[in-house]
Amino acid sequence: MSACATAVGAVWVACLVAASPEVRFLSLADAREALGAFGRSDNAPAWDAWVRAQDRKVRARIERGVEDSISNLILYGTSFTPLPRLESPEASATAAGELVEAARARVKAAAAALARPITNERLRFARDFLARRGVPLKDVEPFLAGNLIRFALEQRGYQEKLKSLRESGDPDRTLFEQSTLFDRRGLSVDTSLLPNYAIEDTLRAMLRKNALAPGSIRSIAVIGPGLDFADKRDGYDFYPLQTIQPFAVMEAVIRLGLGQPKLVTLDLNPAVNAHIQRMKAKGSPYVLQLPRDLAAEWTPQAIAYWQHFGELIGSPGASAATSKGLSVRAVTVQPKYLSLIEPLDLNVVAQVRDEEKFDLVVATNILVYYDRFQQALAMASISKMMNAGGVFISNTVLPAQRPTALEYLGRRYVTYSASGSYGDNVVVYRRK
Ligand SMILES: C[S@@+](CC[C@H](N)C(=O)[O-])C[C@H]1O[C@@H](n2cnc3c(N)ncnc32)[C@H](O)[C@@H]1O
Repeated sequence: MSACATAVGAVWVACLVAASPEVRFLSLADAREALGAFGRSDNAPAWDAWVRAQDRKVRARIERGVEDSISNLILYGTSFTPLPRLESPEASATAAGELVEAARARVKAAAAALARPITNERLRFARDFLARRGVPLKDVEPFLAGNLIRFALEQRGYQEKLKSLRESGDPDRTLFEQSTLFDRRGLSVDTSLLPNYAIEDTLRAMLRKNALAPGSIRSIAVIGPGLDFADKRDGYDFYPLQTIQPFAVMEAVIRLGLGQPKLVTLDLNPAVNAHIQRMKAKGSPYVLQLPRDLAAEWTPQAIAYWQHFGELIGSPGASAATSKGLSVRAVTVQPKYLSLIEPLDLNVVAQVRDEEKFDLVVATNILVYYDRFQQALAMASISKMMNAGGVFISNTVLPAQRPTALEYLGRRYVTYSASGSYGDNVVVYRRK
């Protein structure tokens, strides 16, 4: 099955990651526990048709994710305009659905930049997207404005839901609802550094409690590694597109003496897979830029993580130019670590890979884009891809309807900010 053919139906990016013969759809037998838990009794033909349709439906959400990324770029980008960044998507439109003046000015600036010859990678990505959608040059500005209004109102809806959950004073319900918050949203590629701190901190805690043995991790899967395009929280665009998580997880495992592993990335977005494939093919040192917003009040532990990031797998690199209020570290990753990463096209809520089993599986900021049944299917897929004793870590609180082969080890909150308001709930499972 070709990711390129199914992703958006038309030409996407150069599809460098071939469809893998090792990847197959979840069978009725794979899904049986999840189906039973959710009161479904499909027969094999009905299931086979459903899971294929499900795969197409999920992949169709990538397009909306690209639209969201373009809106983030318009709100926060500094590579195409000196206009001040906006505070948040919600601040860019009124409740009545009108763009505020500052957002209108940014849309105009982006449309003007898109009309000029482009060297900027992100703008090129946006222009290719607009061309695929058949948006003529004269309509680029209204298209971007409409897209931004849609995005802003959607974001406002999420903020309001979160606020009312917090006010409900019911922490269990809040956790439950939060963990499927984006189940209708576009599939974005956003990524940032700190969820990786939560993973390393969790692995360290497990090691301390003898829940993990030194040298026990030989192969890792990172599901949904992401691409730093214009992150929804910080949205920086003053450096080239980059993926961070594969390096972060590999380094955490090395730092903690858990192994010298190889790593497979499993993602359904062709742009993510192609980026990783190109990075490997180039073989030249890969430079990661790690911005830290000084006003974000990271904890000393999070700052120490940022300061030491990359010292085992790379060396200090040249930081990209930056602005006041931001500190940037750059790390040049050694080519040998690029060669240990293998990208694979896989939709974890519909597909599985039998070939190789993993000792550590990481999936952060991805399962929140799915409903409870899809999350249960993802757990069935993940469980099948793990070695006995292997560990699965996520920052989404997942349904109790999990495969019996996955033992729930617990949940811990890792805070990134001194106030405790910014952090992740990390859940850990072990494959029996
Ligand atoms: C929001 S990004 C998170 C990136 C990174 N894990 C992090 O925490 O910073 C979500 C990533 O998961 C991928 N993704 C979303 N749904 C997926 C699915 N069903 N199967 C595999 N990858 C998926 C997206 O393409 C993207 O790369």
